[in-house]
Amino acid sequence: MKPPIVAVFLYLKFWNMRKILIVGASGQIGTELVLELRRRFGAENVIASDVKDEPSDLLKDGLYEKLDILDKESYNALLDKYKITEVYLLAALLSATAEKHPEFAWKLNMDGLFHVLDSAKEGKINKIFWPSSIAVFGPNTPRENTPQYCVMDPSTVYGLSKLAGERWCEYYNKKHGVDVRSIRYPGLISYGSLPGGGTTDYAVDIFYHAKAGKKYNCFLKKDTELPMMYMDDAIKATIDLMEAPSEKVVIRSSYNISGMSFTPEKIYAEIRKSLPDFEIEYNPDFRQEIADSWPKSINDNEAQIHWGWAPEYDLKALTLTMLEHVDPSKLF
Ligand code: NAD
Ligand code: SER
Repeated sequence: MKPPIVAVFLYLKFWNMRKILIVGASGQIGTELVLELRRRFGAENVIASDVKDEPSDLLKDGLYEKLDILDKESYNALLDKYKITEVYLLAALLSATAEKHPEFAWKLNMDGLFHVLDSAKEGKINKIFWPSSIAVFGPNTPRENTPQYCVMDPSTVYGLSKLAGERWCEYYNKKHGVDVRSIRYPGLISYGSLPGGGTTDYAVDIFYHAKAGKKYNCFLKKDTELPMMYMDDAIKATIDLMEAPSEKVVIRSSYNISGMSFTPEKIYAEIRKSLPDFEIEYNPDFRQEIADSWPKSINDNEAQIHWGWAPEYDLKALTLTMLEHVDPSKLF
């Protein structure tokens, strides 16, 4: 049966009215997210923004604005300029960098979030995506199959900012009706854009070294198990959550999601199946302590039940994809 012409007209009108702003678009996640959002919703409806002067090469085919999310006036002016309806806020300092700049990390990670939450509270936009992290968990959290609800005692400034952010997201939703949606990403692995200062970044660096024929000096111990995910799965989860009907998004703090878990030793062995001469040595640094405070594996029952989450990539598929696409000239 064909839909009535009025319904088609209204659908197209609504579709065209959607204007999406990504803040922190030049980073590891932003780069891939912008490309996928432009593919799905049209390049003219997706505005990439970042504190960097120029867009990266991958983002050149679309709208780009320089924006410091700490500058609330400029952020609000950008919302007006493009009549933005939804914001994906990705600008943050990650775990390892945040330990080096704790005060600034707290300022960026919290003030940036408040600027976006407040713009929704004031009715300027109607939907927000903000990522949390496995860093919200801490040393007294159950480390295996970590549930959605459990002890959360983060010991990093990054984890503190993410846990506080989660509580504020839920508060803004309950008190002010703000439609904010969030995922606790595990360590993300991708080849499009280099990662920016995380503890899980070894699992990206290792591929650049393997493909360049260089020995890898791993900053975590060989048996450090952490939750990880291939970027395509993370992007799918993000957009699936944002497109889910509001009533299915029951949790307004942040959802656990799981992809896979592995140790440096395990990913090294998987890479050696394709590159048998690849070598590694282990010299743990300050990031070991951070990794030791995080879960080994995540239980994501709620995300599966509420909005149908299911990952596609396992370690084998991730390794083969990374080895095929990683370009070592980006790093060396
Ligand atoms: P990234 O460091 O690669 O990118 C962050 C981007 O934000 C950079 O392009 C940076 O230039 C930009 N930025 C920094 N300060 C800014 C400011 N004041 N205004 C505007 N832009 C600014 O980070 P990412 O890996 O893409 O992570 C994005 C988000 O996802 C962060 O909130 C991070 O905590 C979260 N996250 C990432 C991972 C991961 O493994 N990558 C895991 C869990 C959570
Ligand atoms: N991948 C991130 C980090 O290591 C986790 O949030 O900081």
